[in-house]
Amino acid sequence: MKAYRGSILHLLDDPTKTSHAEAVAFHEDGLLLVEDGRVAACGAYADLAGRLGDTPVEDLTGHLITPGFIDTHIHFPQVDVIAAHGAQLLDWLEQHTFPCEAAFADPAHAAQTATFFIDELLRNGTTTALVFGSVHKVSVEALFAEALSRDMRLIAGKTLMDRNAPEGLTDTVESSRVDMEALIADWHGKGRLGYAVTPRFAISCSDEQLAMAGEVLAAHPGVWMQTHLSENAHEIEETARLFPAATDYLDVYDRFGLLRERSVFAHCVHLKGEAFQRMAAKGGAAAFCPSSNLFLGSGLFPLKDACAHGVKVGMGTDVGAGTTFSILHTLGEAYKVGQLRGDALDPFQAFYLGTLGGARTLDLDDKIGNLAPGKEADFLALDLAATPLIARRLNAAKTLEDKLFALTVLGDDRVVARTYLAGVQRYRRE
Ligand code: GUN
Ligand code: ZN
Repeated sequence: MKAYRGSILHLLDDPTKTSHAEAVAFHEDGLLLVEDGRVAACGAYADLAGRLGDTPVEDLTGHLITPGFIDTHIHFPQVDVIAAHGAQLLDWLEQHTFPCEAAFADPAHAAQTATFFIDELLRNGTTTALVFGSVHKVSVEALFAEALSRDMRLIAGKTLMDRNAPEGLTDTVESSRVDMEALIADWHGKGRLGYAVTPRFAISCSDEQLAMAGEVLAAHPGVWMQTHLSENAHEIEETARLFPAATDYLDVYDRFGLLRERSVFAHCVHLKGEAFQRMAAKGGAAAFCPSSNLFLGSGLFPLKDACAHGVKVGMGTDVGAGTTFSILHTLGEAYKVGQLRGDALDPFQAFYLGTLGGARTLDLDDKIGNLAPGKEADFLALDLAATPLIARRLNAAKTLEDKLFALTVLGDDRVVARTYLAGVQRYRRE
């Protein structure tokens, strides 16, 4: 057994749906007990100290122990395109992103970038992510191998795109079916890895490819589905033109069997209530990507509306349209999106979205998302004095809520002191 002593914060439920007391668990002087990679107990030091015996206690005083963050939408082959100037979605894809992804046909480039990518996730306190690979099978193999070597819970898929993309960056219905079946057989369920069927978006996939994706999904019930939905006005127009029979953008995916439990739709910026209702009824979930939506000028995600219709929502960085790997920083951006919509995001709801809400979005809340006994011990030690400004501001904060809010607005990778995966320390800040 291992033990960690420090302040502990985790959420037991959605704070907008239950009382604060039921949703928020905070222990000023807390103790986390970990055994065989799982949480054995979590609570007040005074209550749990009796269980310690001769277990050594790691002193994390001055730190906040939290569950690891969950990124429900990020692109592995877009590390080198972050912060590309001047374009909105469709031009950004053409000018910046497709050329960058083309390099992932090379296994050596994919392997080298995978090491960097997983390192960067851990440096930012992200312990689980749902990840887009490139169109190339080798990109996903490189990423899975790297995540497996750290015993990380990670879901990824090969991007499907058989049209409207440059040569060298397209697949075919048959080649993509064969690649997906092989990736599922080789990697899905290995260690803590999972596979996601990954049609890039409707514009880049033919009817036949979307139908094939639906068939593969139906044949493998535990597999996830990820795609993009209703992000940008020109994209929405073009999708309507390509799929005249569909009643709306969501229906394009629904009619091919791609809207179900474990389906995660990135953005959903321009969806209306009725579409959110259909999404919720079929178990689909949304990834809210505020830093990306602001960077590409896509629009303001209607979080309140999505939640009111019962859609599960998690946070996505959407690197490389997103400008940070940090879910903490992304929560600060989510607050700003809320301000522009006239809906101030509650700090505890924000923290929920980055942890347990993300786990529910991925249908993994029986395994991760908080520090309840039995969950996989993916957790962080956050340094509340990481910079002079953060130390001063958090010190001045009068309540836990104030502290947490300031942490999301001011914090990023600098506050992540340690990251643990299944009870093993995998990152420690110098
Ligand atoms: N829509 C289709 N592909 C992409 C992508 O790579 N990034 C974003 N933000 N939107 C997309
Ligand atoms: Zn994306």
